[in-house]
Amino acid sequence: MSQEEKLKEFERKIESGEKIEPKDWMPENYRKQLIRMMSQHAHSEIVGMLPEGNWITRAPSLRRKLGLLAKVQDEAGHGLYLYSATETLGVDRSELIENLHNGKAKYSSIFNYPTLTWADIGLIGWLVDGAAIINQTMLAKSSYGPYSRALIRICKEENFHKKQGYEIVSKLAGGTKKQKEMVQEAFNRWWWPTLMMFGPPDKDSPNSAELMKWKVKLNSNDDLRQRFVNLTVPQAIAVDLKVPDPDLKYNEETGNWEFGEINWEEFWNVVKGNGPLNKERLKVRNDAHDRGAWVREAAEAYASKHSSLN
Ligand code: 3HC
Repeated sequence: MSQEEKLKEFERKIESGEKIEPKDWMPENYRKQLIRMMSQHAHSEIVGMLPEGNWITRAPSLRRKLGLLAKVQDEAGHGLYLYSATETLGVDRSELIENLHNGKAKYSSIFNYPTLTWADIGLIGWLVDGAAIINQTMLAKSSYGPYSRALIRICKEENFHKKQGYEIVSKLAGGTKKQKEMVQEAFNRWWWPTLMMFGPPDKDSPNSAELMKWKVKLNSNDDLRQRFVNLTVPQAIAVDLKVPDPDLKYNEETGNWEFGEINWEEFWNVVKGNGPLNKERLKVRNDAHDRGAWVREAAEAYASKHSSLN
């Protein structure tokens, strides 16, 4: 088949909703976009373990510790799952991880914010995983087979993460005056950075058009952000928390909770590496990678010895 015929066949599959599989022909840009998006997604899962891991030794009860331990272990699994899915595109995970460690690759902005109190762990589960569920439920329908299948499994675990987070928030919101103040203060810190998780406004999103043309993204950044706000505001009201947005108002006609202006300067600042904890997050990841070098060397030595014996 000529390049033209291959492109036609690829576009026919996309249009008909067929999944593109690793061995199928695909435009180079489709492959590049997927490597960028999927590897950064995997990086986000791995770096996302850090803010929460900070509270494992300080969880207020054994039950809370068990829930948090399970969640952090799940995130590690999501990261490894997504690195494996990315490797089906012909890249090696060591190269992807190198790009995370040297600052070339991105990970979700949200994980550069500190977890100052136990309430932050509830907010991460409720808001951050809640946002991730909205984004990932869409991506579970994306045109690239390995990505879509990885996300079907990941979404099931995210739902548990969100439930345990919202339970923590509702307990604190219904607790003592101090607990209520603590969870409201955390909500005030996490609300806006969570809205930024969905990416820049559609008008400033250089990748969306191509990703939507090829049905990797089925909804735009702004659509998913609005969906998140519409779902989450009633949940905040249900536990008597005040959404930190004086411009928030319900539009009867559209059914949308309209919200105030997002601080895009803060967003791009964090994305560019100047957020509250960007440097610390990368240092922790680099140190962990260096400390683990002996494990990789031993595994490689074992593998090469055994492959030469076969
Ligand atoms: N944090 C960091 N960088 C971001 C960002 C964010 N929240 N939002 C956008 N960006 C970056 C993009 O990566 C892109 O830069 P690049 O071209 O160098 O990669 C640039 O800003 C422009 O943004 P675009 O809208 O053009 O980029 P995309 O079309 O890729 O959309 C996205 C951004 C919505 C994050 C999309 O990449 C996506 O859906 N990725 C997969 C899901 C994902 O990565 N989620 C992160 C959270 S994972 C998580 O929360 C785990 C859970 O268990 C807690």
